[in-house]
Amino acid sequence: MNKESAAGLVVFLVAGARPNFMKIAPIYRESRQHAGVACRLIHTGQHYDYEMSQAFFQDLELPEPAVFLKAGSGSHAAQTARIMIAFEKACLADLPGLVIVVGDVNSTLACSLVAKKLLIRVAHVEAGLRSFDRTMPEEINRIVTDAVADDFFVTEESGLENLRREGQPEERIHFVGNVMIDNLFFQLERLRQEREAHFPSFDLKSRLGSYLFLTLHRPSNVDRTETFQEIAAALNEAAERFPILFPMHPRTRKMAKQHGIRLSERVHVLPPLGFRESLYLWKDAEAVLTDSGGLQEETTALGVPCVTLRENTERPVTLSLGTNILAGNRKSSILEALDRALHADRSRFQVPPRWDGQAARRIWEVLLDEGPKDGRSVGPG
Ligand code: UD1
Repeated sequence: MNKESAAGLVVFLVAGARPNFMKIAPIYRESRQHAGVACRLIHTGQHYDYEMSQAFFQDLELPEPAVFLKAGSGSHAAQTARIMIAFEKACLADLPGLVIVVGDVNSTLACSLVAKKLLIRVAHVEAGLRSFDRTMPEEINRIVTDAVADDFFVTEESGLENLRREGQPEERIHFVGNVMIDNLFFQLERLRQEREAHFPSFDLKSRLGSYLFLTLHRPSNVDRTETFQEIAAALNEAAERFPILFPMHPRTRKMAKQHGIRLSERVHVLPPLGFRESLYLWKDAEAVLTDSGGLQEETTALGVPCVTLRENTERPVTLSLGTNILAGNRKSSILEALDRALHADRSRFQVPPRWDGQAARRIWEVLLDEGPKDGRSVGPG
């Protein structure tokens, strides 16, 4: 019943929210090396603002999505349900032989459930990560997605261990590296080739010279007044040391207004940035402060000190080998972690195994059952 004949293997590659877009870009690019694969981009519409979505597609050199599901915002249940209903229709219309989901957002969960119930093979890229914090919506999304997926593509050792402990069969677990880092290296090369002066933040970056770079959007940090105020107090004090560049997520903007958050004038609030402009700023920062998952990995790959405004991380290799320090969300712990980050011995940082820009190539080799051509194993480490 699946479309695997004339068009070759029809694959749905699903993305819905900002952190998905950079993960699907290398997978999509690499799919074009395989003539028998018809890879269709499915955009669930979980993120829809120009800066959160379309600007990313342009930067990442992704084509227009083949299908746009227009799910939009809402409560978790409402958003997930809308994605499921729309995605089921898309699957029934096109009968893909394989659905690839990435990361841990609501779209990842919604589309894996739909596909599995239609008996479609599901591959999860960035499988096995666990924060062991079930108050995070992303943790629930990770657990449920991995409970139903068929193929697990893993970025770091902890993912292998978690999936084994959860009883997933060894032959379905593949330690391929990190597509986020594939994209990072690709974009870094693009940045080297282009003139930076066209970025709106060019003058600001030149004028500031040394600065910190901040992203902040997790419900656990911005939804409660006291927590957001505590973080803001830390930021205002940190900004005395170095000015802070802060591209602000729409959720954070809404909450900052609601809680009456006041930031020092040394905290420069910017609109959400495209991938390349964001990279252009954070790669040269003294340190990055963030509650994002992806930036913890990207800063580790480039050796930029990172202070994570969370109590835990599902990406422990960034702590053990990389540049990451967990800071929680108290003023004193954030300032203390920042101090450690700024004094870190950068020669001790290491890039985790297989974060080498080749993850997407390994994923397709596994999916199409081709042995690795360069002699490197893609099996469990
Ligand atoms: C989602 C992901 C999170 C990821 C983050 C990155 C889940 C559970 N969460 O969180 O893992 O780190 O994306 O951005 O999937 N909004 C806009 N414009 C948009 C999108 C959202 O204004 O294009 C506003 C809406 O008011 C919305 C709020 O942001 O209610 C939150 O959006 P939502 O998609 O629910 O979750 P994020 O916080 O973005």
